[in-house]
Amino acid sequence: MQQSLEIPAYGRDPYEEWVAREGVPVVEGVALDLFHVQTADWPRIGAKGAITRFRGAGDFCSMFVVELPPGGSTLPQQHLYEEIYFALDGRGSTQIESADGTKRSFEWGRGSFFGIPLNAKYRHFNGSGSQRALLCTTTTLPLMIKVIHNEEFIFNTPFGFADRTGKDEYYTGGGDLHMVRPGQNYWETNFVPNLFELDLPAWEDRGKGSTNINLAIGDGVMHAHISEIAPASYKKAHRHDGGAHVLTLSGGGYSLLWNDGDTDFERVEWTYGTVFPPADKQWHQHFVTTNEPSRYVATAFGGIRYPVVQYRRDMVIGKPGEKQLLSKSSKEGGSQIEYEDQDPRIHQIWLQEMQNAGITPQLELPVKKRV
Ligand SMILES: [Fe+2]
Repeated sequence: MQQSLEIPAYGRDPYEEWVAREGVPVVEGVALDLFHVQTADWPRIGAKGAITRFRGAGDFCSMFVVELPPGGSTLPQQHLYEEIYFALDGRGSTQIESADGTKRSFEWGRGSFFGIPLNAKYRHFNGSGSQRALLCTTTTLPLMIKVIHNEEFIFNTPFGFADRTGKDEYYTGGGDLHMVRPGQNYWETNFVPNLFELDLPAWEDRGKGSTNINLAIGDGVMHAHISEIAPASYKKAHRHDGGAHVLTLSGGGYSLLWNDGDTDFERVEWTYGTVFPPADKQWHQHFVTTNEPSRYVATAFGGIRYPVVQYRRDMVIGKPGEKQLLSKSSKEGGSQIEYEDQDPRIHQIWLQEMQNAGITPQLELPVKKRV
């Protein structure tokens, strides 16, 4: 029996229909090493690319890989969805034309992070004539196209969102630091020249030596945060909604993922360029097995400034006078497992990994007495 190619009249997913029409490689997985994703010509952008389909991507955002050949550039782009880019490799520049016609350019290199304000016109240029530039971008296209389900409107609407442009300094590496409280501090900008070097304030609720800052990019609804885990250490387990595209920036280690009721853990190994969004409400915990700190960036839907949905508000903001759920023990209704409450196997696995790697553990847990 031949499968019908007609679009069904019910149960439609306009995002997946769009993905199929784009005709570029779709790469799937729990985790992906973006340096080894197969890309191909992407006519819409005029460069090479791939579309990821992570198990934990959730409903609202997705990640694309964009590869600029040596000396290459993208075609001018404009669309009614947000994008936050990270430059994995190479160097280049991006020109953004704001609602009033003002053009701004900034130069990026390995480690740069930047946003495209909603519906701004933009173009990327590879700054090298001999090497590729590799970018990844997390977008709110799934949300937008599922709701609007009209591609023409998404990609061909001239309206300029002047309120999204922000200050000139947001495009030159400057920004505004908003110190709210640990775990909720945020840096408002549009361009971070180097995420590896961004100063991160402490967030000890998540574990000793843990640091973190949120980013508000382009006054958008996307979430981004940078966290760092101390060398030869690990953070507490936590969980939240799907779609947090965790990208390792430095250090080496692994993460354990599990759902309530599971008898075993799922494991993801990571290094620079690995991305894995934990699935919706799935517990996850990050372990460093190197003598250098490990830094990662997570991009998701629903940010510190605009959480959008109540679940995100509870997670990242919390009720007035109370901690955000991401800083609170699961025993108190929060979304974090304190070290003393975690499955004892977790620490044993890590100690064994550290021994195998010949690294001295820098995290000691209180011995829990058996009753
Ligand atoms: Fe997380």
